[in-house]
Amino acid sequence: MKKNSKTYYITTPLYYVNGNPHIGSAYTTIVADVLARYKRKAGYDVFYLTGTDEHGQKIFESAVKNGQEDDVQGFVDRVADEFKKVWEDLDISYDYFIRTTDKQHEESVKKLWQKLYNKGDIYKGTYKGWYCVSCERYFTEKELEEDQKCPDCGKKTRWVEEENYFFKLSKYQDKLIELYENKEGFVEPDFRKNEMLSRLKGEDLQDLSISRRKESLPWGIELPFDKDHVLYVWVDALLNYITALGYPEDEKNRFEKYWPADVHFIGKEINWFHSVIWPAILLAAGIEPPKKVFAHGWLTVNGDKISKSKGNVVDPVAIAEKYSIDILKYYLLRDIKFGRDGDFSYKKLEQRINSDLANDLGNLLNRTLQMVVQYFEGEIRKPKGEITEYDKDLKTKAENLYLKVDELIDEFNFTDALETIWSFIRRTNKYIDETEPWIHGREENNIRLSRILYNLAESLRIIAVIISPFMENTSIKILTQLGLNPEEILDKGFKELDWGKLKPGTKVQKGEIIFPRIEKDKKNKKKKKESKKMEDKNLIDIEDFSNVELKVATVINVEEIEGADKLYKLQVSLDGEKRTLVAGIKKHYGKNELIDKKVVVVTNLKPATLMGVKSEGMLLAASNKNGLSILTLDKNIEDIEGSKVQ
Ligand code: MSP
Repeated sequence: MKKNSKTYYITTPLYYVNGNPHIGSAYTTIVADVLARYKRKAGYDVFYLTGTDEHGQKIFESAVKNGQEDDVQGFVDRVADEFKKVWEDLDISYDYFIRTTDKQHEESVKKLWQKLYNKGDIYKGTYKGWYCVSCERYFTEKELEEDQKCPDCGKKTRWVEEENYFFKLSKYQDKLIELYENKEGFVEPDFRKNEMLSRLKGEDLQDLSISRRKESLPWGIELPFDKDHVLYVWVDALLNYITALGYPEDEKNRFEKYWPADVHFIGKEINWFHSVIWPAILLAAGIEPPKKVFAHGWLTVNGDKISKSKGNVVDPVAIAEKYSIDILKYYLLRDIKFGRDGDFSYKKLEQRINSDLANDLGNLLNRTLQMVVQYFEGEIRKPKGEITEYDKDLKTKAENLYLKVDELIDEFNFTDALETIWSFIRRTNKYIDETEPWIHGREENNIRLSRILYNLAESLRIIAVIISPFMENTSIKILTQLGLNPEEILDKGFKELDWGKLKPGTKVQKGEIIFPRIEKDKKNKKKKKESKKMEDKNLIDIEDFSNVELKVATVINVEEIEGADKLYKLQVSLDGEKRTLVAGIKKHYGKNELIDKKVVVVTNLKPATLMGVKSEGMLLAASNKNGLSILTLDKNIEDIEGSKVQ
């Protein structure tokens, strides 16, 4: 039956319930969540599936270790709830949470394997080989590392020799190769596809043991055709991608609507299961394979593999609590290229906060709203006056933004998608410098300023909409501060990306700083403060400037100060009025050199006492490591002494 082209089905792996999620396991779920949110905004009917993998040796042994041998179900119920809680804390927007101990899943799994048994794709044999409980995976002798260690996780494997049922995987070898060759982008990234394809072409596929005798493993789905066996955990769990859609009953028409999945997101180490075993099962059952399997890389923490024994397990909820969910998501998607291995580090996370979030985005909002408040009493005015090249360029870039981002999202290139959005944010900041709104703020009619501030606010509205799948809370904050109704706008999704939707007359609600900078220590703090001052220097209003009174003065006397090797005591005349100044210029000027010079003095500073001498103003001078030069007048005009400098 024809599938609605506007559906999008995305899945994460099912997590083993032997421990709580850490930053590595949360990674797939967070990335998938962003994609699900993005596709919803783009108008798709999305089905986002995640869940827990609750059978198998590993889980059984964890329950035993936990003293729950007789209540394995109670054990998995508890950990599954912990997973749900973590996803809730991270605001993961899944549509369905499947557990492999769900009755419906168990029944559907039995039906499918019965079907393959009836078809003749299953036979009884004896399995002899090595098994890694941690990876729930069989290995041949030659695949193992020294001391029979697992090549994937390094843990000791066990010898298994048992009467099992086998699935005729070898029968599907050619069909799988055909699938890879006919289905463009079936496995991504490309290098992962090549790994699989070269194995498919270079090795003879071995049939797969799909059961364990109940006496050696009592925890699993019973085989429908032999009550003494339970299913191998992988061939139970993989089926979740269709049982979650109701397969085979499909009462809610989910299977028909969403299958084949648009993408299965998985980690690289489980690619073989997803890109070879899973499609082979589907081929055997006469079900279309998924459209794509995307295998991402592994996260380390400060360069180390994440492990409890190393004590470097990073709790994603703790990070979300310390920084925010938005910051965590932004960092993971921006800093780690999806598909490649990546490293989690607090240092890099904080750098992102300060540069991209506080500096680029936070500052843009702050500067814009400050000017709207200062010049237009908080109202976004109708844009008037001529349209300059700067205006045109900003608008064109805003209009092209979605197309570019969308292309990158379709490639699962989240890093570059965010970089594209951030280059627009930086471009908008540059627009402020180009158009110099503070100059137009002094004009009587404010015509030019109306357009500049409208364009800035409109760019911010568009930024808020396009970042919403990545950082919804931030979008809400920006839209609220712009004086808009976030719910109404975000509900409409990317339709709101058209330029010009911002209504003139909107009253902004300047609020808290959306991304406060992370200050490391005092020294850093001072540095940051200084650079913040530098960044904000464009924001000074003409009134601020005119508060500083600068006047031309004539130096009439210079004296040394006892005990001071850098200071002179100067006497200047200001339109006849005499003033004493203390200036740190002794190393650069001889006493006589200064007499009669016309200098610039700040005259309305509060007096300060230096080396016992009261200074009633400040001399302006420029200095660097090579010397110091005082500001004097370029031309000597009659009666210039006492005039204001402006
Ligand atoms: N239960 C199986 C999957 C069955 S899917 C039908 C499984 N579970 S797992 O809990 O071990 O891993 C779940 C996912 O977490 C995998 O995709 C794995 O790659 C991912 N990660 C676990 N640690 C990780 C990192 N340190 N970094 C990135 N992802 C990692 O395998």
